[in-house]
Amino acid sequence: MKLRQILKKIIKKQSRKLIPLIYGNNLKKLALFYNTKWGEEEGSHMYAQHYEKHFAPIRFKPLKILEIGIGGYDDPTKGGESLKLWKKYFPKSMIYGIDIIDKKALEEERIKIFQGSQDDELFLKEVIAETGELDIIIDDGSHINKHAIESFKTLFPALKKNGIYIVEDTHTSYWPSLIGEKWSNFGKGSVYLESLTKVGGSLDLNDQNTSMNFFKRLVDGLNYEEFLHPGYVPSYFDKNIVSMHFYHNLVIIYKGDNNEGSNIVKNNILRSFMLQNLGIKSLEELDLEFPSMSQTNDE
Ligand SMILES: C[S@@+](CC[C@H](N)C(=O)[O-])C[C@H]1O[C@@H](n2cnc3c(N)ncnc32)[C@H](O)[C@@H]1O
Repeated sequence: MKLRQILKKIIKKQSRKLIPLIYGNNLKKLALFYNTKWGEEEGSHMYAQHYEKHFAPIRFKPLKILEIGIGGYDDPTKGGESLKLWKKYFPKSMIYGIDIIDKKALEEERIKIFQGSQDDELFLKEVIAETGELDIIIDDGSHINKHAIESFKTLFPALKKNGIYIVEDTHTSYWPSLIGEKWSNFGKGSVYLESLTKVGGSLDLNDQNTSMNFFKRLVDGLNYEEFLHPGYVPSYFDKNIVSMHFYHNLVIIYKGDNNEGSNIVKNNILRSFMLQNLGIKSLEELDLEFPSMSQTNDE
């Protein structure tokens, strides 16, 4: 090998070590360096700005971070860009990755990888048994609506108090699965394109099976203590979600004790001073019709 080639190789190797050090404080530049899917060109996901806002305050804590979806699809040696990015951005944290394809080849110090499907409850529970409770969970896996919902139901309880749960690419809520002869060849040869035909979203904005509608329903739970609904039984999500942030294609959910209380309502009935002010003894006297609460209470 010529001296010039050797020097070029050394410089390239060293720059791969130096650039992350220089970019360490800038998630957007780090994302571009590691070539994660959130680039800069038009149409790319602009997640870095949101992540920076939510992650900067906890960056130097020793956290446990789990990401579903390692990248590289069916090539076991490809992907891992976002895991490396998180490892660099969170210098004291342990990073865990899950993928349906065996990506163990991408393991390194502070990056541990599990193989399994995000809709496999047993597998997810096994992962949690090994990792313990988590500080951050990012779902960037199949983006199948049903999977995003099922994974959330299984994994959100495994978040620590003050933990953050993130679902990327919620645009699949609006894309129905493409089934039938006409689509049978769509995406053939590309696992990525083929996966887009199976996401199970809907053209109907009110379709209750989409991930966006699932998460939208949880927003009401933030205010469950204000529901005028005698006998209402709060769900786990009502009691443990303290804030939800919706961005373009991205949902960020914070865990905590949602029990601030209400100045007007207690145990989902009006406080006695309110009843007195209204000149009634109980809510029944108001002849209100209480609808079924099964949807907001659905776990
Ligand atoms: C969008 S890529 C992840 C990209 C990566 N997070 C990044 O930003 O660099 C999605 C990954 O999810 C994986 N995947 C697809 N279906 C899955 C499932 N059911 N469970 C777990 N992983 C899955 C795919 O193999 C693929 O590697």
